Amino acid sequence: MLRVCVIGMGPIGNRHASIYKEDPLAELVGVCDIIKERADAAAARLGVPAFYDAPTMLAALAPDLCSVTTGGYEYSSDHYLPTMQALEAGCHVLGEKPISNEIEKGAEMVAKAREKGVCYAINLNHRFTPAAYLAKRWQNEGRIGHLLFINMALWIKNPAESSPYYMIKALNPHSVDIMRYFGGDIEAVQCFGTTAPGRSIITTAHFSMRFKNGAVGGLTASYDIERGHPMERCEVAGVNGRFVIEDMWREATLYPAGDYVKHVYTNPVFGGMRDFEDTFRNRIHKFLEEVTAGVPPDHIDGSGADGLAAQKVLHAAIESLQTESVVYVK
Ligand SMILES: NC(=O)c1ccc[n+]([C@@H]2O[C@H](COP(=O)([O-])OP(=O)(O)OC[C@H]3O[C@@H](n4cnc5c(N)ncnc54)[C@H](O)[C@@H]3O)[C@@H](O)[C@H]2O)c1
Repeated sequence: MLRVCVIGMGPIGNRHASIYKEDPLAELVGVCDIIKERADAAAARLGVPAFYDAPTMLAALAPDLCSVTTGGYEYSSDHYLPTMQALEAGCHVLGEKPISNEIEKGAEMVAKAREKGVCYAINLNHRFTPAAYLAKRWQNEGRIGHLLFINMALWIKNPAESSPYYMIKALNPHSVDIMRYFGGDIEAVQCFGTTAPGRSIITTAHFSMRFKNGAVGGLTASYDIERGHPMERCEVAGVNGRFVIEDMWREATLYPAGDYVKHVYTNPVFGGMRDFEDTFRNRIHKFLEEVTAGVPPDHIDGSGADGLAAQKVLHAAIESLQTESVVYVK
């Protein structure tokens, strides 16, 4: 069983901690927040000791694995310090998205994990669903064949406007990750944005992409659409067939080329996904399984390198918006 700590006890850190508490592969041993009240409240709720700085907790408890669920500017600036501290201490780390909006710092965290030989993953939770696993299986079985295009859409209502490109940077680590999951690396991007009435930043955008393998893709993303309706759709097409995943886990449909019979997976009532929180449960359990099994750090599903690659695409998209041009992902 892996001894686990959580650093950053906001709503998301509390969610990670509760999930570790339930997971048979983990033993939650400590929680930490620089805000004493947050650490104390989580510690009391979960029955583990509270710490107010990460290095003290890492030295006292020597956990095997840490979640870093800090936030900060653009929901990401605080990840770097405790991630580096945990990696330096030899812990496997599951960080929250976005990995970092300072690309160099993201690269440093990925490099530190590599140097220490530990696993570094990002909570790219949208890919950890039965529907996405099935779609990946269809792809691996050749039922999509040579990849042609991916159409992705992700939208939610979020009034946050803490920086000019907040919607692009904070929402789309997920959508770009799903596109990369099925399409591989993205090499070029062109982005157009619009500002909804009453908003002051770009809150809706469309991205046109080219994958390294030559396939093309489109992503529409928005912070302007009320909850209550579907929020995510992924369509992947190749010469042998096409699939559509609705809402991460609700439904996956395969349309084989030249066949009028389609295959539909619908989230089952018994044993199916209950809600969005289950994407966290699945993602966390997968990381625990991989670390327990000794999966090599460069084979981790939803790795730090994946998180970094997604953020590089988003930074290229922002440069494209600013320059009204196609930008190659560096
Ligand atoms: N994967 C998803 O679907 C999903 C959904 C929502 C949010 N998130 C991500 O989760 C993260 C956290 O979100 P939140 O709403 O809980 O944020 P939050 O700001 O409410 O909580 C973060 C906490 O981290 C603490 N903190 C900061 N630096 C610290 C340090 N060095 N050591 C210890 N504690 C420190 C802060 O004091 C704060 O209490 C964000 O990165 C966000 O993008 C992910």
